[in-house]
Amino acid sequence: MSTLAILGTQWGDEGKGKLVDFLAEPAKAVVRFQGGDNAGHTVKIGSEEFKLHLLPSGILRKGKLAIIGNGVIINPKVLINEIDGLAKRGIDCSSLRISDRANLIMPYHVMLDGAEERLKAGKQVGTTGRGIGPCYSDKVARIGIRMCDLIDEKVLKEKLSFIVDLKKRMLRAYDMDEGLDCDSIVREYLEYGNRLREYVTDTAVLLEKLLKKDSKILFEGAQGALLDVDFGTYPYVTSSNTIGGNIATGSGFPPKQIDRILGIAKGYTTRVGAGPFPTELPESESMELAKAGGEFGTTTGRMRRCGWLDLVVVSHSIRLSGIDTLALTKMDVLGKIDKIKICDHYILDGKKTSAFPASLEQLSKCEPVYKSFGSWGELSDSEIEKMKKRGRAALPVEIKKYLEHIEKILRIPVSAIGLGKERDRTVILRNIWPK
Ligand code: IMP
Repeated sequence: MSTLAILGTQWGDEGKGKLVDFLAEPAKAVVRFQGGDNAGHTVKIGSEEFKLHLLPSGILRKGKLAIIGNGVIINPKVLINEIDGLAKRGIDCSSLRISDRANLIMPYHVMLDGAEERLKAGKQVGTTGRGIGPCYSDKVARIGIRMCDLIDEKVLKEKLSFIVDLKKRMLRAYDMDEGLDCDSIVREYLEYGNRLREYVTDTAVLLEKLLKKDSKILFEGAQGALLDVDFGTYPYVTSSNTIGGNIATGSGFPPKQIDRILGIAKGYTTRVGAGPFPTELPESESMELAKAGGEFGTTTGRMRRCGWLDLVVVSHSIRLSGIDTLALTKMDVLGKIDKIKICDHYILDGKKTSAFPASLEQLSKCEPVYKSFGSWGELSDSEIEKMKKRGRAALPVEIKKYLEHIEKILRIPVSAIGLGKERDRTVILRNIWPK
């Protein structure tokens, strides 16, 4: 038993980066398997803060392989900037490995992302504008450019001459100035290929070797289950599968070898971009929570919409991914609020329901039913140290009540709570790595 996956159970931004970094300690490799630079992880180590978009958070720990799997879509320019940025801060990225099958974000993907959004007047998804949807669309339409294409000029030219012509036609249909030049894209991407070549490999073969050696492997999810393209609040979702099933597809790793899945939920809920959000707070209270929690997107800087913890949402995620155990983050932020609420279930057409509806029309009719909890206030360093030493027994009574209620409704244990940005402000309540 040596593999652990960490997945977001809400609409992303649950604080996965910090936990991945924290739990990466015994791992030999940290693997990303979906999403692209729409993701944003902030990890604080000592007084230093790191913001990562594409690199697995494990890159910050010495001696770990940081693997970008085939299911991730890569903007090579962003990746190179990230590598160079870390190098300037003394962090070596030689342990990075990139799948030769990963699809690449091309300049026309970014242009088309913006074009589609603009034309959806009033119905915009509020994408991060990074070309994510158009890139995944091309992957499925079998006109994607993959990492392995960057090492062969002839192949790249041949593929791009057809694709660029196609994209010019599409851009004209959107009334956009195409300004796309096939030769300059080929030159630009061949340069990226030269720069990234040393990291590119068949990462599925690498993972198989690690598995044979019984090395510990940590899979790092991006976004959250409610942004999943099949099971999220469609169409207000991202374009990849963010749930457990995609760990295998997005990294070429056998599903039956995933030993444990840790779900991450914030003690409250946030979402960026448009789309339904049943437990969203009125604007002024949402803003208060956003300010207390520093809820501004790592990728876009947008203020996140805030609301109460929604257990219908979290149990939907547990069901989809087979989540074994939960970590609750940002509990320090929630402690600053006087009266706290949790949504246990919804009322839909006069009936109690704990299922998350597919139809947004049905969802908009769901009324959240809440239970209230008292605040635990701000916790001192010495109180946190005590909790780290003594575990559950040292938790403030109000936190205990909060956790017990969540465990009763969700029927899985809470294994960790996050009480601050720093790596060491994490209290582990039970063993997370499988034995
Ligand atoms: P896209 O992934 O850029 O296509 O954006 C689609 C939706 O997913 C938008 O509502 C984004 O705000 C949201 N989204 C994408 N990535 C993240 C993330 O890492 N955290 C939170 N929301 C995200």
